[in-house]
Amino acid sequence: MQIDIITVVPGLLEGPFSHSILKRAEEKGLAKVKVHNLRDYATNKQKQVDDYAFGGGAGMVMMVEPVARCIEALKSHRDYDEIIYMTPDGETLDQQMANSLSLKGNLMILCGHYKGVDERIRQKYITREISIGDFVLSGGELAAAVVADAVIRLIPGVLNDETSALTDSFQDGLLAPPIYTRPAEYEGMKVPDVLLSGHNEKIANWRFEESVRRTKERRPDLLEGKDFEADEKRK
Ligand code: ADE
Repeated sequence: MQIDIITVVPGLLEGPFSHSILKRAEEKGLAKVKVHNLRDYATNKQKQVDDYAFGGGAGMVMMVEPVARCIEALKSHRDYDEIIYMTPDGETLDQQMANSLSLKGNLMILCGHYKGVDERIRQKYITREISIGDFVLSGGELAAAVVADAVIRLIPGVLNDETSALTDSFQDGLLAPPIYTRPAEYEGMKVPDVLLSGHNEKIANWRFEESVRRTKERRPDLLEGKDFEADEKRK
């Protein structure tokens, strides 16, 4: 997979992809992130990429021409499964969306900046608009990094332990259960006996029950329409 990110602040995206899991994904040839500076596609000498909003009001608007030029240049090199625009009025990112994006070949992500991009870019090129939550960031860059991270870690082979993405919170519609490592006792706080028992079935049942309990407590909305009691009885 290649993810091409278009931004007016490339510096904001220099860090995240050269560390840890995302760096390893690139080294293994599984996912590559390329950052493109919108200013390189400006059409005038001043390298202008934003202009005043028609109709007035505070805040600048990303101009059609540089964005269109950049998107067309990228499209001439590869086919994209999705051209994504990061914006607070998009569809909210969740694990299901990350799962489906992780199955794609190439993604292009346009980061909104200033007041956002001229509507005609959205009409002509954008296939998907994504928000990372009901709050406003100063630009789409950090949101694009969040999407890229959530997607890349799901590509088979990126995580060392293939099963570890499968046991994430949300992957089965539940929050993850509590986890522990050594020591078995810390300041009088003991790791639950069952986890030390070596009994795999009991451990799996305990984890499932804890997941359901935690989800009921913290995110009851995730359980609507689900009958986990029936699941438990069947076991
Ligand atoms: N740009 C500004 N705020 C954003 C958000 N919440 N999600 C995606 N892009 C954004």
